[in-house]
Amino acid sequence: MKAAIVYFSLNGNTDFTAKKIADKTGADLIKLTTVKAYPTGYWKQMFWGGKSVVMGEKPKLEPYTFDADKYDMIVFGTPVWASTFAPPLKTFILENKDKLKGKRFSAFTCFTQGGDEKTYKKLKEILGIDELSAVLGLADPKDKPAPDNENKINAFCEKLNSL
Ligand SMILES: Cc1cc2nc3c(=O)[nH]c(=O)nc-3n(C[C@H](O)[C@H](O)[C@H](O)COP(=O)(O)O)c2cc1C
Repeated sequence: MKAAIVYFSLNGNTDFTAKKIADKTGADLIKLTTVKAYPTGYWKQMFWGGKSVVMGEKPKLEPYTFDADKYDMIVFGTPVWASTFAPPLKTFILENKDKLKGKRFSAFTCFTQGGDEKTYKKLKEILGIDELSAVLGLADPKDKPAPDNENKINAFCEKLNSL
């Protein structure tokens, strides 16, 4: 099974996780970048990022290559923003709605406190599916390394590799 990891990361935690998963599964990495950058600094990010979610924004993305025919599985990676996925994923999903038909999906989230389950629910809604094949949630894995994170990443990758 060939997988693509489609992800957005503002501060590197999701990026850190995506690269580990790619190393362990051989999945291709497709990193989403917005044309207009979100600001730096905690409060500015909370304000503008939160607004972006609440307003239902679909921020324009820098060009990316997604050759859908190559993949059976799409693994979405996102920070949890206001208990849902970050808006750049929304842009990607809506831009590729037809290409995503018939694929299997998994997801991983990075968060500070939680909101991962709600994020998976929202992802399933926008994708129009009932189940994600595998899920993984980690609390700020780059900024606050936890001893168990590697085991969780390994379990997620083993599941992906077994599909
Ligand atoms: C706009 C915004 C909203 C956030 N909302 C949540 C939230 O609802 N729950 C939570 O636990 N963390 C929340 N966070 C924290 C991030 O999900 C967390 O720090 C994540 O690890 C960041 O991933 P990144 O480094 O890949 O951007 C939020 C961060 C931002 C910028």
